[in-house]
Amino acid sequence: MGAKPRCKGWWVWVLVLVILALVAGGVIFAVVKKIKKNSGDDDGAVPGPPGAITQKYSAALKVAVQFFDVQKSGKLVDNKISWRGDSGLKDGSDAKLDLSKGMYDAGDHMKFGFPMAYTATVLSWAILEYGDHMDAVNQLKTSQASLKWITDFLVNAHPKDNVLYIQVGDPKKDHECWYRPEDVTEKRPATQVNTSAPGTEVAAETAAAMASASLVFKKSDAKYSDTLLSHAKKLFTFADKNRGSYSESIPEVQKFYNSTGYGDELLWAAAWLYHATGDKEYLDYVTGENGEEFAQFGKPTWFSWDNKLAGTQVC
Ligand SMILES: *[C@@H]1O[C@H](CO)[C@@H](O)[C@H](O)[C@H]1NC(C)=O
Ligand SMILES: *[C@@H]1O[C@H](CO)[C@@H](O)[C@H](O)[C@H]1NC(C)=O
Repeated sequence: MGAKPRCKGWWVWVLVLVILALVAGGVIFAVVKKIKKNSGDDDGAVPGPPGAITQKYSAALKVAVQFFDVQKSGKLVDNKISWRGDSGLKDGSDAKLDLSKGMYDAGDHMKFGFPMAYTATVLSWAILEYGDHMDAVNQLKTSQASLKWITDFLVNAHPKDNVLYIQVGDPKKDHECWYRPEDVTEKRPATQVNTSAPGTEVAAETAAAMASASLVFKKSDAKYSDTLLSHAKKLFTFADKNRGSYSESIPEVQKFYNSTGYGDELLWAAAWLYHATGDKEYLDYVTGENGEEFAQFGKPTWFSWDNKLAGTQVC
């Protein structure tokens, strides 16, 4: 009787050990899989290759992308909008620059650099995430061309390390009359930010636009991508080392695109620069002291042209 229970006990322990090993193996497998997925190593990561095309969504995307063609300023190339023509050809001439490209803001003919740069950043992001889907419905090339139409403007708007043109047009005169940009005759002054009139948010947003766009054009046009990245780095330094809101430096902008702070743009720009360069100094910028000062961790806000904190957290 004495040996029997001992013998039985032995088998029970072996069984328990085997079960424990299986459970532990399962847990490790699940954790490793989850970590891989979170770090993007998984080949099946979102958003994945395009699946079946849904007609109504591809039609909606086409209309959305066409909006950029409607808003274009300058000497149009391959224009697909029958009622649009060349306009704003002399924009920037008072500053001896070619600021003819870029996009009009809304129903008016102002070029507001702050929301325009934000538009470019978000368009880059969309192309980086969903470019293969856009390509599947023939919208990728058009989207890239529209993005370049804005970044060409931004490159020219940044003629010196510490000078960025952030607006073309006189909003007061512009808003007095509702007409076609092709028919504009009034003077369209170019407005800049610089070291004595800083504009951290607009310079940092422009840096974010250029850094994200440099990723979009990295494969197709390496030289252009390098140019964008070099502007992005310089603009970020200008923004960071000369801190001040353009809403304070140039109070007239408050009526149109008032900025409620520049901390979010600094983090957003540094996050994109980290993606574009892989340079840890930018990551440290976001996660270190500046992150603590500006990120408002745990207090998520909506994502908008004025507030990019939610985007920075995803990015
Ligand atoms: C700096 O920008 C301000 C605001 O646009 C402008 O009034 C000033 O003339 C600029 N400074 C220089 C040296 O151009
Ligand atoms: C612009 O934003 C600043 C900072 O939030 C605020 O103090 C100011 O009143 C705003 N200006 C307008 C015209 O809304």
